[in-house]
Amino acid sequence: MNPPLSSFLPVFLYLSSFGAIFFDSVQALSIREASISDIQLAFKQNQLTSEQLTEFYLGEIHRLNPVLRGVIEVNPDALHQACKADWKRKAKPNGSLPVLHGIPILLKDTIGTKDKLNTTAGSFALLGSVVAHDAGVVARLRKAGAVILGKASLSEWANIRSSKAPVGWSARGGQGKNPYVLSATPCGSSSGPAISVAANMVAVSLGTETDGSILCPASFNSVVGIKPTVGLTSRAGVVPVTPRQDTIGPLCRTVSDAVYVLDAIVGYDHNDGATREASKYIPRGGYRQFLKAQGLQRKRLGIVRDPFFNFTNKPDQALAFQNHFQTLRHAGAGLVDNLKIDNIDIILNSVASGEAIATLAELKINLNAYLKALVVSPVRSLADVIAFNQNNSKLELTDQIGQDIFLASEATNGIGNAEKSALSSLANLSRNGFEKLMKQYNLDAIVTPGFEVAPVLAIGGFPAISVPAGYDNKGVPFAICFGGLKGSEPKLIEIAYSFEQATKVRKPPSFKP
Ligand SMILES: *[C@@H]1O[C@H](CO)[C@@H](O)[C@H](O)[C@H]1NC(C)=O
Ligand SMILES: *[C@@H]1O[C@H](CO)[C@@H](O)[C@H](O)[C@H]1NC(C)=O
Ligand SMILES: *[C@@H]1O[C@H](CO)[C@@H](O)[C@H](O)[C@H]1NC(C)=O
Ligand SMILES: *[C@@H]1O[C@H](CO)[C@@H](O)[C@H](O)[C@H]1NC(C)=O
Ligand SMILES: *[C@@H]1O[C@H](CO)[C@@H](O)[C@H](O)[C@H]1NC(C)=O
Repeated sequence: MNPPLSSFLPVFLYLSSFGAIFFDSVQALSIREASISDIQLAFKQNQLTSEQLTEFYLGEIHRLNPVLRGVIEVNPDALHQACKADWKRKAKPNGSLPVLHGIPILLKDTIGTKDKLNTTAGSFALLGSVVAHDAGVVARLRKAGAVILGKASLSEWANIRSSKAPVGWSARGGQGKNPYVLSATPCGSSSGPAISVAANMVAVSLGTETDGSILCPASFNSVVGIKPTVGLTSRAGVVPVTPRQDTIGPLCRTVSDAVYVLDAIVGYDHNDGATREASKYIPRGGYRQFLKAQGLQRKRLGIVRDPFFNFTNKPDQALAFQNHFQTLRHAGAGLVDNLKIDNIDIILNSVASGEAIATLAELKINLNAYLKALVVSPVRSLADVIAFNQNNSKLELTDQIGQDIFLASEATNGIGNAEKSALSSLANLSRNGFEKLMKQYNLDAIVTPGFEVAPVLAIGGFPAISVPAGYDNKGVPFAICFGGLKGSEPKLIEIAYSFEQATKVRKPPSFKP
């Protein structure tokens, strides 16, 4: 079934200005690892067309995806879209086109597209369903000229079906693999987007996060993930968990690629009320102005050692973070050490914090509304999905995996007293925890290893950026995460970009067993 590992040997594709593939040591352009800026330059110099780039990625998906399973579907119209982008570029040679013009992007399979692609959250229950509109973020991507390359795999239903579901697995997508160490977790639930950009099966990608679903796969697949402030990016047309925490954000190989994608997808959408309030955070001129190599100067960074810097059995991370603290200081940041977040033990325990109680009730309400609004769908409610999984036990591995979270959600009955109390507990924990700490010490960000800070940020709707920070002795990647208050993306981008430029940790995957 699996191609021999020798077929994973790096292959470099070089393109001439006439489109023929050849090797040229002077004008060679390596598409593998190419950033958006590299690609746009190659477009401009007539070294590459969007069609060739799309062909390259389709070829890589064909070659790598049988093992990696980062992609569920490729778009039959992708090459056509690429040709249109090329035609438009030729028609206005000196015109200024958006930076995503002609750039292939992969979307997590929860992000709705009104085209030939299915939107299924990885489940056969939604196969054949038809969405009313493109998701808000997809409409923006199309306007920016991006090529919708396909749908990326995920932990089925964004990991909200069962506590026993394998991470990175979905019935439609199969088991996603970590391209660095195939036996290591890819993490989830936005596993496919992270796997696919890491392995150069696409230029850039979009994932979603309710609690950790961008930050964790970014960490394990050595890519940059931006979890935007809730409401900065529209959730309209995306299979929901809870709009209180759901956010859509980029997973890319570099901070600048992620920022270009962020610039394209943020903004007001009348189909998502939260975007009205959050649009006040969007700076005039967008986010790319914060890609400053000196961005760490005079930044105040908080370090919460307990419980985040527990490196028992992780000597590689311990050493890496010693060096990273040095790098941050040398780049002009002030580290405020040994800080505490009040009630951190409760915040990190979703049952104790109220996050689980609130989310279960919200999931039922929001998923039912999503399913009801579909133009066509085999399932119209969470109850239908549960029945589908029962009826199609073999297809959905229901006997092995179960659906305990779905069943618990179905058993809820709206926002009652228990849920109200959970919601106020969450708000209080956030206000008197992370928010108080950030304000008290006048911090620009807190710095943590990996993704473990995710619940702290999730329950308050706060943003974060994950940047590659190293590889352990087995070759499994780990990240550094910069989290901040709502709307602090400009500062987080300055910090993340400056850290990335100072360290350049990311290297392409080598597909170790
Ligand atoms: C585009 O720019 C080039 C040189 O920069 C110039 O020679 C050419 O005339 C311009 N074409 C158009 C259509 O403006
Ligand atoms: C969407 O699903 C249908 C099956 O319902 C399938 O025939 C079709 O090929 C899928 N679309 C894509 C782009 O894979
Ligand atoms: C640190 O991590 C180890 C291993 O994961 C765990 O056993 C230990 O309890 C942790 N220590 C603290 C102080 O949290
Ligand atoms: C499940 O099976 C039952 C009994 O055959 C049927 O009535 C029902 O429509 C099915 N539901 C779904 C969602 O597949
Ligand atoms: C909010 O949290 C503070 C400190 O953590 C606590 O003293 C207070 O009782 C809490 N208030 C509510 C309404 O839960």
